[in-house]
Amino acid sequence: MVTLLENPLRVGLQQERTPEPNIIVFYGASGDLVKRKLVPALYKLKRERRMPSEMTIVGVARREWSDDYFREQMREGIEEFSDGIGSEEMWKDFSNGLFYCPGNIDDPDSYQRLNTLCKELDEKRGTRGNRVFYLSVAPNFFPEAIRQLGSAGMLNDPIKTRLVIEKPFGRDLASAQALNQVVTQVCKEQQVYRIDHYLGKETVQNLLVFRFANAIFEPLWNRQFVDHVQITVGETVGVEDRAGYYESAGALRDMVQNHLMQLLCLTVMEPPNSLDADSIRTEKVKVLQAMHLGDPNNLDVSAVRGQYSAGWMKGKAVSGYREEPGVKPDSTTPSYVAMKLLIDNWRWQGVPFYLRTGKRLPKKISEISIQFREVPYLIFQSAAQQVTPNVLTMRIQPNEGISMRFEVKMPGSSLRTRPVEMDFDYGTSFGVAGGEAYDRLLLDCMMGDQTLFTRADEVEAAWRIVSPALSAWDSPADPSTVSQYEAGTWGPAEAELLINRDARRWRRL
Ligand code: BG6
Repeated sequence: MVTLLENPLRVGLQQERTPEPNIIVFYGASGDLVKRKLVPALYKLKRERRMPSEMTIVGVARREWSDDYFREQMREGIEEFSDGIGSEEMWKDFSNGLFYCPGNIDDPDSYQRLNTLCKELDEKRGTRGNRVFYLSVAPNFFPEAIRQLGSAGMLNDPIKTRLVIEKPFGRDLASAQALNQVVTQVCKEQQVYRIDHYLGKETVQNLLVFRFANAIFEPLWNRQFVDHVQITVGETVGVEDRAGYYESAGALRDMVQNHLMQLLCLTVMEPPNSLDADSIRTEKVKVLQAMHLGDPNNLDVSAVRGQYSAGWMKGKAVSGYREEPGVKPDSTTPSYVAMKLLIDNWRWQGVPFYLRTGKRLPKKISEISIQFREVPYLIFQSAAQQVTPNVLTMRIQPNEGISMRFEVKMPGSSLRTRPVEMDFDYGTSFGVAGGEAYDRLLLDCMMGDQTLFTRADEVEAAWRIVSPALSAWDSPADPSTVSQYEAGTWGPAEAELLINRDARRWRRL
């Protein structure tokens, strides 16, 4: 339990702000992300009065929807996936700013139509030429959409126009480099927002504050005191109806190269010179450049993949990955990845970083745990069996918070020890949970703050690290070589071996 002190430190990445009036164009407007997350996030900002009333949204997709139908769809999304519309008056004001413009990604005319509509909306709604183009389409459409926006001259103004690109950015190092080249041909890096929604999570940002606004942890944050670090991102859901995308991605591209790498970077990077976007991103790139999977010829000891097989989740029978709709019966796409990474620098030499993520695991949970070394010499010989090393855990979700495990003496006349937890819980301390990520990220983008977005060299550095695993796993494989784990369990036996080999074990969650 943590008590809030008066005069809390004001080190927010930035204070409450309101952006200039903008038009946000969502490519892929008929898709799930726009309906479930993006428009509800903007509506939340509207309800919190952090959005100017001129704020305008244009949805673009192939379907021949009308403005009214688009509005209905978005209303449904807000009602189903967020706190609801609140007052009708608020919804009316918001929905008056929603428009739809049908168009194909590869049709130049549709970009001209969009351009004309945006100019009309500038006049009508006072959006002053400010534009955010958000690509929420399948990743294979990114290059074409970017080229077309460029040819239509819609990214010409480096100050007023921005481009948001969803993940995964590329599918390996070469394709990420090629995509970065397409981007560079049509706009400047300062206009580009490569989104990773994990960076918008409150507790992920809190990592920076925790590390760099508290003096007591930094001296311990190195190879001298840290034994190893574990990062777990578990999901209970299966592939759902996303096999079309997921089959060509898998857990390594979908989660590890981006979300888990970002969590790791913020945990291990050096203190940045300041909070500005480039200082932070430069530190992340530096640490990514020092990170690797160990000997590429002995990959099995540092990377494991798996697929869920049929099992039980909350008392319900669920199918295996290969039986899911849209998944090939002999698919080798991993729904689970565990790996051990090393960092060759002064701070972290020799400290292993164990990462694991998967679908159909027993719990939805994301956490980073720093496991400290054992005491050098134990004077409590009789209690030796029970003494456990200290662990600092950052809970990203759910039950967002931070806890520290340490050893105490149990009451009584004999000397027996036991680990206890000292806990900071977001909900208890602030009366709110960690919050959704997209509202924060959309706001930052409109404000021109790139801190929580990935820079070109950063995304390439992250691909380089996972490259050995990608090449090994992408080459045609015998499906029987992909380890299976029963749905509702913590992954394949090989993942246990990966960490047990080092005389360590995964945290029991
Ligand atoms: C997305 C992945 O980026 O993150 C999904 O594409 C995954 O497969 C999701 O389910 C997990 O995000 P969160 O915020 O629910 O942990």
